[in-house]
Amino acid sequence: MGIVVAIDGPAAAGKGTLARRVAADLNLAYLDTGLLYRATGFAVVQAGGDLENEADALKAAQNLKADDLTNEKLRHDEAAQAASKVAVIQSVRDELLEFQRRFAKEPPQGKVGSVLDGRDIGTVVCPDADVKLFVTASTEVRAQRRLKELQERGLEAIYTQVLQDMKDRDARDSQRSSAPLKAADDAVILDTSDLGIEEVIAQAKSIISEKA
Ligand code: DC
Repeated sequence: MGIVVAIDGPAAAGKGTLARRVAADLNLAYLDTGLLYRATGFAVVQAGGDLENEADALKAAQNLKADDLTNEKLRHDEAAQAASKVAVIQSVRDELLEFQRRFAKEPPQGKVGSVLDGRDIGTVVCPDADVKLFVTASTEVRAQRRLKELQERGLEAIYTQVLQDMKDRDARDSQRSSAPLKAADDAVILDTSDLGIEEVIAQAKSIISEKA
């Protein structure tokens, strides 16, 4: 098993961009674990199911196919909220756990290691990861970033609504009983509120080369 880098943090803290860049620069495989929850939530909605109903959500998680992860609509905030709702269900998390662990252990395409980003990678999915980063930023900064991202994609969005959605999702993700969002004891905290993305990437790469 090669190097495993775990990157956790709340929504729009910059962890996705960071994880993708670190993986590309260090030739590691990358898994955006949020996509698994987004695709599960999205499938429940598509099937006319109830996001808080365990049977509906578990069935969607069990039936996930690789193709389901490529839908552009998964990037919308509706999918994010749906993801956060199915993500509180323990059996859904258990169902998605094996895939994530296998990806970390046996990275695809012959890569020498992997980068996984999510909420519980350093605490639950890969507690033995070689490097754990917890990427965070203030709620207001994250809401501004998300607003900009939505607007750049041509989607209509207003700051107060984006901020409220962010607060709702943070609360649900960090207060759930099963694998809540929190930094692992041995994670390095990266606060990106006042840092540009290139600085964040440089810091992360230097932490990885020190630890790995
Ligand atoms: O990282 P993201 O915004 O795509 O995640 C969407 C939701 O999925 C997030 O609000 C909570 C859930 N999630 C999770 O519970 N555990 C993960 N490892 C990744 C995401």
